[in-house]
Amino acid sequence: MIADHEKGYFTEETSAEVVSARNNSCDNVRLRNCVNILVKHIHAAVKEMEPTQDEWLKAIMFLTETGHTCNDWRQEFILLSDTMGVSMLVDAINNRKPTGASESTVLGPFHVADAPELPMGSNICLDGKGEPMMVRGRILDTSGKPISGAKIDVWQANDEGFYDVQQKGIQPDFNLRGVFRTGEDGSYCFRGVKPKFYPIPDDGPVGKLLGALGRHPYRPAHFHYILQAEGFEMLITHIFDPDDPYINSDAVFGVKKSLMAKFQLVDAPEQFAGSSFDEPFYLVEHDFVLVKE
Ligand code: BEZ
Ligand code: FE
Repeated sequence: MIADHEKGYFTEETSAEVVSARNNSCDNVRLRNCVNILVKHIHAAVKEMEPTQDEWLKAIMFLTETGHTCNDWRQEFILLSDTMGVSMLVDAINNRKPTGASESTVLGPFHVADAPELPMGSNICLDGKGEPMMVRGRILDTSGKPISGAKIDVWQANDEGFYDVQQKGIQPDFNLRGVFRTGEDGSYCFRGVKPKFYPIPDDGPVGKLLGALGRHPYRPAHFHYILQAEGFEMLITHIFDPDDPYINSDAVFGVKKSLMAKFQLVDAPEQFAGSSFDEPFYLVEHDFVLVKE
């Protein structure tokens, strides 16, 4: 017998409505709405694609393999969300900022929560590999006032495109990571190495899918920031090298124009003599603007 709340028997035409009606007695309104929206769009997609049974099984097996590839340190579903642009869409929806505020981008899987807090100006490169780089700027509020006591958590891949956590035993622990705190003038400064483009983990089902779609797995050279200050919204973001070959085709769609900063080569001896560098280095300057809570 068809219950009162049902919309009749399931047919190709009524499929989404019939399934959604079955959820009517769910008292978690948010869950019901979200599931019904998914049902509506998935049914519409299936009607448009008209998959064969074999194709549908292939899709199921892809998702199964995606799940099997996840473990404590690898999240293949997030990678799928990243490469399909969904992570950046969720980020955009949750980080609508006023004009002039710094923009956010994806967190990525390589943040480590307990990186050491270092004196401002420290070198986060612990193995001396790569071309030296200095990064500096200020943390400001939207009226241009410096924010003191802001916490700056930075991390980057090395000159070969690997994070320390991907090369345990090869790179020192906490290589190219550090936490800094601004003083009264809101300025920050640290030393690292010029980052290089690198592939997202592409030896699993998501990498295979990208290959089948004719897409490369690379992210343009960047370094990551999490900025936090009392009374301000947290900002998760990157700085990108505008001259990177992949700057216009980031595998995870994380690039924004406002997040590019020139990597200027300081190579004239009179420029670096007397500085903390005794060799040419790259200088990256970028100010961040945080929004009040
Ligand atoms: C990263 O930049 O660390 C990253 C972001 C998304 C997927 C993989 C890596
Ligand atoms: Fe990264």
